[in-house]
Amino acid sequence: MSTPTAPSTAELLARYDRPGPRYTSYPTAVEFHDGFTEAHYRERLAAADARADAPLSVYAHLPFCEERCLYCGCNVVITKRRDVADAYLGHVLEEVDLLARHLPRRRTIAQMHWGGGTPTYYPPDDLERFHRAFAERFTFTSDAEIGIEVDPRVTTADHVATLRRLGFNRLSMGVQDFAPEVQEAVHRVQSYEWTAELVQRARDLGFGSINIDLIYGLPYQSIAGFRHTLGLVNRIRPERIAVYSFAFVPWIKAHMKHLPQESLPGAALKLELLASAIDAFTGAGYRAIGMDHFALPEDELSRAAEARTLHRNFMGYTVQSAGDMVAVGISGIGDLQDAFVQNVKKLPEYYAALDAGRFPVERGYALDADDLMRRHVITQLMCNLHLDIAEVERRFGLRFAETFATELDELTGPYSPQTHGLVTVTPEAIDVTARGRLFVRNVAMIFDRYLRARAATAKPVFSRTV
Ligand SMILES: C[S@@+](CC[C@H](N)C(=O)[O-])C[C@H]1O[C@@H](n2cnc3c(N)ncnc32)[C@H](O)[C@@H]1O
Ligand code: SF4
Repeated sequence: MSTPTAPSTAELLARYDRPGPRYTSYPTAVEFHDGFTEAHYRERLAAADARADAPLSVYAHLPFCEERCLYCGCNVVITKRRDVADAYLGHVLEEVDLLARHLPRRRTIAQMHWGGGTPTYYPPDDLERFHRAFAERFTFTSDAEIGIEVDPRVTTADHVATLRRLGFNRLSMGVQDFAPEVQEAVHRVQSYEWTAELVQRARDLGFGSINIDLIYGLPYQSIAGFRHTLGLVNRIRPERIAVYSFAFVPWIKAHMKHLPQESLPGAALKLELLASAIDAFTGAGYRAIGMDHFALPEDELSRAAEARTLHRNFMGYTVQSAGDMVAVGISGIGDLQDAFVQNVKKLPEYYAALDAGRFPVERGYALDADDLMRRHVITQLMCNLHLDIAEVERRFGLRFAETFATELDELTGPYSPQTHGLVTVTPEAIDVTARGRLFVRNVAMIFDRYLRARAATAKPVFSRTV
C-alpha cells in the first residue's frame, strides 16, 4: 500500500477537476434512452401497485418562473402569461389522476416534493387545487415529509400560510449569494432582509425544516464577499443548507453564455469558496452532509448521516429510503421497480400525451444486476462517505476484491485517491476522508461503468467536478 502524501491544491485540481456527474442517480440521466417507453412504465406501475403496503415518494415539477436567473440549470419555462401556467396546471392535474388510476391499491405517500422552476409562481388557490388532487386520491403517512421549493422574491405571506395549512412541513429556498455585484451579474436581486423575514414567517407557522441554497463558482464571487454571505446565512440559521458547485454548461443552457465569463472563479478559487463554506457552517455547529449539504445536529438529515442511513434521489439527500418514486410534470424523473422513467420536456408534447390519455414518457432506463450493485456502492459513497464491504458482499452475493479489482487498483494505486489522502481502503470498508469530501464525485466516478465508455467520446456532457 502506498503511503499517503499531502499533495498541493494545484496537484489535486490538476488530477481531479474534470467533467463528472453529481450522481442524483446511477446510471445518470444521460444513459436514459427512448427504448424505454410508456408501455414499460405501465408495467412498472403495475408491479409497484402490487406492493400495496409500501408508501410512495412523489415528485411534482412546476416549471414556471417570471424571469430567468442566468446561472439556472433547471428545467424551467419563463413566462409572465398566466394562461400558459393555467393550461399546465390543468394537464398536471390530469396526470395525477392517470397515475392514481394505475395505482388502485398503492395509495400512501410518505414523501412529496414540489420543485421547479418556482412552484410559488402559482397563486395560493392554485397550489391548494393541486394539493387537493393528491389529497383526494392518496393518504399521507402521519410523518410524511412534504416539501416545496420557493423563490423568496415571489413568495408571499399568504403562500406560506396556505402551504402550512395544507400540511407542508419543509421549505427550500434559493439565495445563491447575497453580494450585490454577484446578484446583478446573474440577474437575481434578492435582499437579506426579505429572505430572513420569509424564514421567520415560515418558522412562526411551524415549518419544521427550512433549507437555503447557495452556489459557489458564480461571477465576481470572492472569498471576502462569500464569507459575508455565509455570515448572513448563519444569522438566519436554517435547519439545512445546500452549497452547490456552479454547473456551468453553456452547451446545454445557452443563456449561460450571457454571464460575464471572464469573472467566473477558477477551480482553485472555487475550492477555496467551498472550504470557506465548510469552515463557516461547521464552525457554527452544522454537520457536513454528503457532498454539498449542511444540517443542524437536531435535524433528521444529521441524525441519518450519523446513523449512515442517508439516501440520495433526484430531490437531493433524503432520510426516506428511496422505495418507489413517481414523478409528474414536464421533465420529472421517477425511480420505481428498478427503472428510471423521465417525462417529456416540452409543453406541447406533454399536453398531447395527456390529451390522448397517455403518460407523457420520453425515455427511461431499466437497471440490470450490475447497475443495481454499482448504484448501491455509489450511493453509499455519495451519501454516507463510507462503504461497508461485507454488507455489499452479502447483499449482492459477490467477492468485492474480485468484482471490483480494477476499481480497487484505481483507488489505491500510485497517484490515486488513497495516496492523495482522499480515501482509506481496508478489506472491511472504503471511507472518504474530510479532504476527500471535496472530491467524492471523483471517487464515485471510479465505480461508474458508463463513464469509461463516454470518456472515449469528446462530446461534453457533464459540468466539472470542482
Ligand atoms: C428550482 S431552484 C430553487 C427554487 C427557486 N426557483 C429559486 O431559485 O429560488 C433550485 C436550485 O438549484 C440550484 N441551481 C440552479 N442552477 C444551478 C446550476 N447551474 N448549478 C448549480 N446549482 C444550480 C440553485 O441553488 C437553486 O436554488
Ligand atoms: S428562480 Fe430558480 S428555477 Fe427560476 S430561473 Fe431562477 S434559479 Fe432557475
